[in-house]
Amino acid sequence: MSSDTALVAAINQLRQERNAVILAHYYQEPEIQDIADFIGDSLELSRKAANTDADVIVFCGVHFMAETAKILSPEKTVVLPDIDAGCSLADDCPADEFASFRERHPDHLVVSYINCTAAVKAQSDLICTSSNAVDLVKQLPEQQPVLFAPDRNLGRWVERQSGRELTLWPGRCFVHETFSEEALLKLKLEYPEAEVIAHPECQENLLDLADFIGSTSKLLVHSETSASNTFIVLTEPGILHQMKQRVPEKTLLDVPGLDGCSCNACPYMRMNSLKKLRDCLETLSPQITMEESIRSKAEAPIRRMLAMSK
Ligand code: 13P
Ligand code: SF4
Repeated sequence: MSSDTALVAAINQLRQERNAVILAHYYQEPEIQDIADFIGDSLELSRKAANTDADVIVFCGVHFMAETAKILSPEKTVVLPDIDAGCSLADDCPADEFASFRERHPDHLVVSYINCTAAVKAQSDLICTSSNAVDLVKQLPEQQPVLFAPDRNLGRWVERQSGRELTLWPGRCFVHETFSEEALLKLKLEYPEAEVIAHPECQENLLDLADFIGSTSKLLVHSETSASNTFIVLTEPGILHQMKQRVPEKTLLDVPGLDGCSCNACPYMRMNSLKKLRDCLETLSPQITMEESIRSKAEAPIRRMLAMSK
């Protein structure tokens, strides 16, 4: 038996014994996506975490995602295979600095992208994801000033789509800011028939070259529904695993980072492994924990998002 086969067998047995559900984001390693009970974007994963009847949630994603699951299901045990699987966007928005920023804008409503810590969510009025940000901002009263954090690229895109002016926190995802415009232009010349599909965390100069922009799930659906047979995909390449299965007949091209590096893979997402997944099911650690005062404050804006999302 290969080591992966043995790990898969152990995970399947432990999943049953623990009454656990394995949730995975599209940027996880293919072997983790293959063993998950559910794969999705941030919005879909938070809905699953809120509604599961499992006793244990194994979150194969990054820390803020597992934290969101714990906020929504505090009575469940939530484990993350590697507790150091963080996020550059969440790191870019320390809670104390964010508090000072809010104090400088007391009349603003605070909309925070789900890629932030529980302590930042606890200071927010409304949470959004890349899949519902435009729709949610459009639902806010027109005269209401809005502060948007922490992703400046998503924020600018929401401004353009909604026609609303937002006060932006200057955070960024270092993975999505790594794509090379030169490499993209070369690919477009080589494949003039290709459609460029991009995640809104990419920089504006790249989004300007995109034919379709959306969350990971929306990019997947678009690859299926578009008449195009070739796609240049501007997001973390983990998504190609599902895309290849959904549209095996289509050509999918990923874009290298600046200087041709392959730094378009999210190092945090890739910290989880089958072995760490087995270990966390066995030991029920590392667990996500937080103070109840933070959790309850962070829950309200997430519930508001879930209620306002179609
Ligand atoms: P999605 O919600 O689109 O899956 O994005 C999550 C993320 O971390 C993108 O970098
Ligand atoms: Fe965070 Fe970027 Fe990784 Fe997404 S891709 S988890 S935003 S560092």
